[in-house]
Amino acid sequence: MNASIDFDRRLWPQDVAQSRAHARMLAARAIIAAEDRDALLAGLDAVELELRDGRFPFDADDEDIHMAIERRVTELAGPVGGKLHTARSRNDQVVTDLAMFTRERAAVARAAIGELMGVVLARAEQHLDWPLPGYTHLQRAQPVYLSHHLLAYFWMLSRDRARFAYAEHEAGRLPLGAGALAGVNFDTDRSLVATELGFREVIPNSIDAVSGRDFILDYLAAAATCATHLSRLGAELVLWSSVEFSFCELPDAWSSGSSIMPQKKNPDAAELLRGKAPRVVGHLAALHGVIHALPLTYNKDLQEDKEHLFDAVDTIELSLAAARGMLAGVSFSRERMSAASCDELLAATDIADLLVARCDMPFREAHGVVAGLVRTAVDSGRTLSELTVEELAAQSAELAAHSELYYEALRQSSWLESKISEGGTSTARVEQQLELARATLDADASL
Ligand code: ARG
Repeated sequence: MNASIDFDRRLWPQDVAQSRAHARMLAARAIIAAEDRDALLAGLDAVELELRDGRFPFDADDEDIHMAIERRVTELAGPVGGKLHTARSRNDQVVTDLAMFTRERAAVARAAIGELMGVVLARAEQHLDWPLPGYTHLQRAQPVYLSHHLLAYFWMLSRDRARFAYAEHEAGRLPLGAGALAGVNFDTDRSLVATELGFREVIPNSIDAVSGRDFILDYLAAAATCATHLSRLGAELVLWSSVEFSFCELPDAWSSGSSIMPQKKNPDAAELLRGKAPRVVGHLAALHGVIHALPLTYNKDLQEDKEHLFDAVDTIELSLAAARGMLAGVSFSRERMSAASCDELLAATDIADLLVARCDMPFREAHGVVAGLVRTAVDSGRTLSELTVEELAAQSAELAAHSELYYEALRQSSWLESKISEGGTSTARVEQQLELARATLDADASL
């Protein structure tokens, strides 16, 4: 139960890098001799090669990756290996590895999101004026252009990218040098180590340094929200690719056949975007649980940070790649989407707005007039545009007086182009949005 080697071995690149920086700093401050430093660096080089090639001889007694590396350096370099841990504790060592790891993976996620945003943007540009129904309560509500719908994901992703940039920023302070918790009995140079390892600054309090894991919470929070966004995309792809919707077809590489029903093509990857999100959210909640009410400073409970982080990293990176592949390859059906969005009842709000704009009618009253028109149409099995001027007059004399505007508003696509407000679905507004999206994509997302 005590051992973490089975999962923390993946921190070896960070552990080797920080040990190198630490050995150099010890020599620079004359805490160890230059020849000791060189022997340590040679030992670390050899260990790195073994780890990289998968030939590192793990030992049954290796509790964690930090002890394994130090043991092996000592085997290869001799007793001088024991000097590597001068002025260092595993408490500041482990959290330093984690900060380096988190920083790197946050940058990877940020880049992966940028690539996905690029695909979303390209698909939006390709489907600028393809109408589909917009839904509320999963009931057809108002038609929108597919470009507009896809761009909604672009903006979610751009915020996700900013959240990962923040996590990366938060992991940018060096814990090393805190020792076990109180500082060390040597006049070390923490800034030197920080610079070599790419940290912006050192954590100013040794207690905070070994106790703190909130940079991992920041990463997990970013990952949880991002995974949740991807789950909504996955859910829509599942719905849209069903025969009932038939709005799109997923690429074969991102779907699979049924083992028993030959006609079926299952949207597995889209379903997994949906299904994997809660485990990332779970990791965030679990690490909050680990840290909750934990007395300062290091407690072994904190060893439980790693598996939550690692699985979240693997899950979000995989999900981002899958989302990108699916969106790049999905093909949409213009016919099916526009057939589903030409239902005139979707223009009900537009007719109400017409009464507001042209007849100065309060919106609530207009809403009632249109409800009457819809009832007349539905009850008689006709569409709104098939109602006669007399039938309009039965609901509202003012509307009957503007009947030509009424019939015009019911023309296909006029109720999309009427959404002229900023951020709306009219083509001109979507074109504006695309321009903003291009600039956002190109902007430097780092903090
Ligand atoms: N494997 C430990 C962890 O992951 C490393 C730190 C151990 N420190 C200690 N005082 N036992 O947290």
